[in-house]
Amino acid sequence: MVPRLLSLNIELTAKDTDRAVERGDLIIVIDVLRSGTSVINALANGVKAIIPTKTLKEAYKLKRQHPYYLLAGERRGNKPKGFNFGNSPLEFTSEKVHGKNVILTTTSGTMALTRSRNAKLVFVGTFLNAGAMAKKAVETAEKKHLNVSFVLAGDKGQFSFEDFICAGAMAERFNKGEVYFSDKARAALLAFKQTKNNLCKNIMEAEHAKHLIQLGFRRDIEFACQLDIYKIIPIYRDGKITSLDPNSA
Ligand code: MLT
Repeated sequence: MVPRLLSLNIELTAKDTDRAVERGDLIIVIDVLRSGTSVINALANGVKAIIPTKTLKEAYKLKRQHPYYLLAGERRGNKPKGFNFGNSPLEFTSEKVHGKNVILTTTSGTMALTRSRNAKLVFVGTFLNAGAMAKKAVETAEKKHLNVSFVLAGDKGQFSFEDFICAGAMAERFNKGEVYFSDKARAALLAFKQTKNNLCKNIMEAEHAKHLIQLGFRRDIEFACQLDIYKIIPIYRDGKITSLDPNSA
């Protein structure tokens, strides 16, 4: 019997999420700057769960229903009124989030997440957990006979360089002989290879990073550019993101 070839696809903005859902793919949502990186750091620091919402209205409503939940996120890069945190990954310290539920709403990242809620499996990938995430995605996709799509959150409906490069960082860990790379996946892989030796410098020159630097968030970008510092696998199911038990799928 000819072995099944796992297919690796990419959707370039949050608005394209539905295509990956309709294909029935295992989805890895990528929003390097900054919501994905905030999710990983919050999980690393012991957050109980992160509940993404698309709109501010939904976030405020959930907070009214659950007064002990914390509110986090951004609009135009800054913390909305009445929120406990903005969207800086470095704000999600153990002192603040350990054992807590956090409602998160951001411009594009939580849009890509909430739009993927009906997918078979949804994970969150960043540079911080790229290696572990790719390994888990391959294992799970093979076991469940699924293809894999990276869904890039992008920035306000536009393509984002750093999310594409991050898809390439994960694509590099897929074993080429056993994976069919779509043209977009191949392009991301080649782009990552071209930038990986100077990753942070390259990301700093991207549009979204420049905007964040203007707002005073340079340290967030430096933090987000670190490759493989965590083995955390964030899974989004039943409306919330938690850390997957390493022995389950
Ligand atoms: C988003 O979801 O649009 C981003 O995370 C924005 C940001 O950098 O805070």
